[in-house]
Amino acid sequence: MKDLRNEFRRILPLYTSAAAQEIIMNWKEKYADKIVSAEYAVSLVKDGDKIIFGDWLGEPPALVETLYDHGMEKHDVTIIHGMSPGSNRCVDPAYAGHFKHVSTFLGPNSRPGYREGTVEYIGGTNFHKWPEMFAVSDILNPHWAFVQVTEPDENGMCSYGVDCSFTEPAVRTAAKGKVVAQINPNFPRIGGKMLHIDDIDYIVCQESPLYTIGRAGVNEKTQKIADCCASLIEDDSTIQLGIGALPDAIARNLMDKKNLGVHSETLTESMMELVEAGVITNSMKTINKGVCIGSQLAGSEAFYRYCENNPMFEVHPVDYVNDPYIIGQNYKQVSINACLEIDLKGQANSESIGGIQYSGIGGQLDHVRGAQLSKGGKSILALNSTAKGDTISKIVPFHAHGNIVTVPRYDINYVVTEYGIADLKYKTERQRAEALIAIAHPNFRDELRFEGRKLGVL
Ligand code: COA
Repeated sequence: MKDLRNEFRRILPLYTSAAAQEIIMNWKEKYADKIVSAEYAVSLVKDGDKIIFGDWLGEPPALVETLYDHGMEKHDVTIIHGMSPGSNRCVDPAYAGHFKHVSTFLGPNSRPGYREGTVEYIGGTNFHKWPEMFAVSDILNPHWAFVQVTEPDENGMCSYGVDCSFTEPAVRTAAKGKVVAQINPNFPRIGGKMLHIDDIDYIVCQESPLYTIGRAGVNEKTQKIADCCASLIEDDSTIQLGIGALPDAIARNLMDKKNLGVHSETLTESMMELVEAGVITNSMKTINKGVCIGSQLAGSEAFYRYCENNPMFEVHPVDYVNDPYIIGQNYKQVSINACLEIDLKGQANSESIGGIQYSGIGGQLDHVRGAQLSKGGKSILALNSTAKGDTISKIVPFHAHGNIVTVPRYDINYVVTEYGIADLKYKTERQRAEALIAIAHPNFRDELRFEGRKLGVL
């Protein structure tokens, strides 16, 4: 039924059959019946239920905060969500027994809970497989999807706004349960996958400010890294930019490139600047030509407004955007991501510090692998050579006990620090270790060589 209706919507301008008209236009009658207060929607959640929130900056504040307000009345409710930009009160020990918290990506306000045991990290698979995981997992299969969308258009279509990534799959998966949508008049209408009013069970109309993120500055070290990365990115490439300070600095350094395209999990502010400068045209893309494809937006309100109703930006779910086989259909796809540490064998850790989960895999490995499948593709992992005021080398002989390998050595390609570029693809262990030591901070090179000999790689 759903597929048929979507088909009707697509052909409506050509064939305005009575059946198609009826299905599409009837939504207005049902709309009013679905409107409830946030308190009412939250009161329907039963003890033991599982709820997925729309991801990251798309989290619906009215629903989430109301749920927390009534948290003491609930028992054993599982909350599945990403790097929450809201209060994240569910991780407070006071809610023990009321909420269980499953995080898809740890952020500043869920890391303490993870260490104390009140937050569980998902860690189950690559990002593009999460929709499948939500559908089949006993633990994650949700009774409810709490999402934020725009006001409907004349056909009853709401946009997923700043986040479609696992928000749309949450709606799809919760088809066995209920979909509650906060319709926020401030939310920007972004093209791509839409949600029809008929597919929402309860609507909460409430205006909320938008969740935004700021940008890190560029210093001398990040500028050197950005220069190295720019030298690897050819005209006509399609780029993916990861999160963190480095990918943004790298993007700012691409102003002299020509005809870049975007196929990226996250669409960022720097892409708007590159579009404005005529650098990103998407004209040489081999799929989704003319359009920046992403699964979410992360930036300022000005950036969201720029993308609003802008045919050059679309958001789609991660099982499309992050599928390596889709990514790999782009010609010259370049993935650019940050990592925390890399060992002498070329294994990158992008998500743990001191053996403890710090963030998450996100779509990093999806995009590294997608770039490898792309004709002329490259994957770049960028990192400062040191952390904590040059006291810690981020190039290490081996990973600390408990640290995670996010990108295995079999998938690694370019690694960039402020000391240059190491191309690790198709290299021996010895060549890799030599190349990595050459881009390590000079203070640590002797020690790395000594340890490399002990490990038998030098
Ligand atoms: N040892 C100890 N501490 C380290 C460290 C190391 N090897 N590397 C970094 N740190 C510390 C930093 O000093 C910093 O500490 P501070 O907050 O006290 O200053 C902190 O860890 C964060 O490091 P930073 O390099 O600033 O990280 P970032 O905010 O730029 O994020 C990642 C980088 C790798 C954590 C982030 O990109 C990530 O989670 N990536 C995985 C997911 C992903 O790439 N998705 C991409 C698809 S969109």
